[in-house]
Amino acid sequence: MPGLAARVEGMIAALGENRGLISDTIVDALRAVPRHLFVPPVGVALTDTGPELIDQANDPEAWWTAVYGTAAIVTQLDGGATDIGDAEGRYTSSNSAPETVVDLLELLNPQPQHRTLEVGTGTGWTAALLSHLVGEAARVTSIEIDPAIAGQAAKNLATAGVRPRLIVGDGAAGWAAGAPYDRVHVTCGVHTVPYAWIEQSRPGAVIVAPYSPGFDTDQSLRLVVRPDGTAIGRFPGYTSYMMMRSQGATPCDPDDGSGKRFAIRVDPRTIAYAPAGAGLVMSALTGLRTRVSDEAGFVLYLVDPGDAGQWAAAVHRSDTEHMVYELGDRRLWEEVADAYFRWVSWGEPGLDRFGMTVTPEGQRLWLDTPERAIGPCRSAVS
Ligand SMILES: C[S@@+](CC[C@H](N)C(=O)[O-])C[C@H]1O[C@@H](n2cnc3c(N)ncnc32)[C@H](O)[C@@H]1O
Repeated sequence: MPGLAARVEGMIAALGENRGLISDTIVDALRAVPRHLFVPPVGVALTDTGPELIDQANDPEAWWTAVYGTAAIVTQLDGGATDIGDAEGRYTSSNSAPETVVDLLELLNPQPQHRTLEVGTGTGWTAALLSHLVGEAARVTSIEIDPAIAGQAAKNLATAGVRPRLIVGDGAAGWAAGAPYDRVHVTCGVHTVPYAWIEQSRPGAVIVAPYSPGFDTDQSLRLVVRPDGTAIGRFPGYTSYMMMRSQGATPCDPDDGSGKRFAIRVDPRTIAYAPAGAGLVMSALTGLRTRVSDEAGFVLYLVDPGDAGQWAAAVHRSDTEHMVYELGDRRLWEEVADAYFRWVSWGEPGLDRFGMTVTPEGQRLWLDTPERAIGPCRSAVS
C-alpha cells in the first residue's frame, strides 16, 4: 500500500496531467493540507463510471484511492434526511473534486495576508487550503448554511490544526463583520450574484463563483470589484457545483389542465443542450431555468423561478415534430426559442466573449464590452 506522501504526489501528478500546470503555491497547499482529514469514513465518490459508495471500514484501499483520486466525494444526501450509506439522493454537500478546487483557487489567486471569505464550508478542505495560501487562518472566514455540516467541518479543521473563523449562516448575505475582503471564494453554484459579496469587498478584490445560469452548462465567474462599488468580470472556464440552497430547485405548480398544447419544429434538445454562450443569452433574456427529464422520453422543462404557475414542458416526439405543453400567461417556449435564435444570429458567440457587471440593482450580462448589454438587469429572486 502506498504511503501518504506517495498518495498526495499521485493526486498532484494526476491533476497536472488533467488540467496542466498548477501554481507552486497551490501545490504546496495540497501537500500541507491532506485531503483525507476532510473526507468522512463513508461517502459517495463521483467517479467517471458513476457514483461509488466508499466505506473506509469495509474497503480501506478503495477509500484511500478515492480520497487521493480526482473525484468529488459526496458527504450528504437530501440535506441529511437520507443516510449517506444509501448512496442515492440529492447531493447537498461534498468534498469537491480536487481539479475543480484547484481551478477555482487559480482564478482566485489568494496572496499572503488576504482577508478571504469562503461561502460553503462543506468539509472544510478548501477553508484549510485558503488558510495555508493566505498564511494566517484568522484571515479566512468560511460560512456554511447547514449546522451539521458546519459542525463536522469544525472538527475536521481542528484535527488538521487549522482554525479559520467558521460561521453558520446563509452565505448569500456574506459576513459583514469580517469585511472588507480581498477575496471571496464561492463553492456552491449561483445564478444570481448577491450584492453583499461586492459590498463587503474592497476595490480590487476578486470574487470567484460557480455560475449556473439554469441551462445546460455551468461556468466559473471571476469578478473584480471597482471603486464605484460595482464588479465586472468574465467566465474563464467551466465548473459545476451543487447550488446554493437559497437559489436551488425552482418549484412548479401542479398541472391543473388549463395549459395550452402546440406543436413545434425545433427539437427541444437543441435548446436543452445548447452551447454555453447560448445558455447565458437565453438565461439573461428570459430569466427562465431549465430541467431535463430523460426517463420516459425526452422532456425539457422551462420554469419561471419567480412564479411557480408559469412552466412549460417541451416533449421530443419524432424526427419531424415535437410538442409543448405550457401553463401560465407567458409564452415560455417562444421566449426561449427567440433568445436561442438571437444568439445564432449574432454568429453563435462562445463563452469567452461574454462578461457580467454586478451593481446594487442586480447583474447584467454583456457581449464583448459592457456597453453591449443583453437583457434587463436581473436581481436575486427571493
Ligand atoms: C460543494 S460543497 C462545498 C465544498 C467545500 N468548499 C469543501 O472544501 O469541502 C457546497 C456547500 O455549500 C453549502 N451551502 C449551500 N448553500 C449555502 C448558503 N446559502 N450559504 C452557505 N453555505 C451554503 C452546502 O451546504 C455545502 O456544504
